[in-house]
Amino acid sequence: MSETEPLASVRAPEDPSRRRLLGAATGVVGAVGVGAAAWPFLATLRPSDKAKVIGAPVEVYIGTLEPGQITRVQWRGQTIGIMRRTENMLAQLPSLTDRLRDPESDIPQQPAYAQNEYRSLRPDILVVNMHCTHLGCIPRVIPEVGAQPFDENWKGGFFCPCHRSMFDLAGRVYTGVPAVLNLLVPPYSFSDEEHVVIGINPEGVA
Ligand code: FES
Repeated sequence: MSETEPLASVRAPEDPSRRRLLGAATGVVGAVGVGAAAWPFLATLRPSDKAKVIGAPVEVYIGTLEPGQITRVQWRGQTIGIMRRTENMLAQLPSLTDRLRDPESDIPQQPAYAQNEYRSLRPDILVVNMHCTHLGCIPRVIPEVGAQPFDENWKGGFFCPCHRSMFDLAGRVYTGVPAVLNLLVPPYSFSDEEHVVIGINPEGVA
């Protein structure tokens, strides 16, 4: 992890034990619930400082993220979802291959460390850009398996209500929908077992 980059720290949904603020105080921005308070502060910064802060990595506490739960944070103006997937959720993924446009993530739109069956560093933790790859709406998260009005064989995933694109629980896009790309995976890493850092690749990855 870079020593020089300011790093925002957020707790999602709640960090009872740690209050980590890494980097300079100017790094506190870009997280859910923090943005509004940060604007007066940002207004006092010079343009170059603002750019640095807005682009800062964001650390997210996931220690209390329940199995099946998703939390959202803001990073570089994008909504990033972090989901803790259950064994059952992961078990659904291989069954969907025939219905997906890019099941093996062959299109190079994610970091190499997320080009695997789960599209993630850790199978249980999905980190994905929540903006639909069609026109940028935020899809609904529907993790339950079962018939839906838009798909009678729904295996859980993300459904975009704007033009009815569907993505599975790895963010892989279905065939026959307006979106043609899987949900993007941002650069990220784990600073420890319970913290995800959005915006920084794992050590040793450029
Ligand atoms: S923006 Fe999601 S389907 Fe069009």
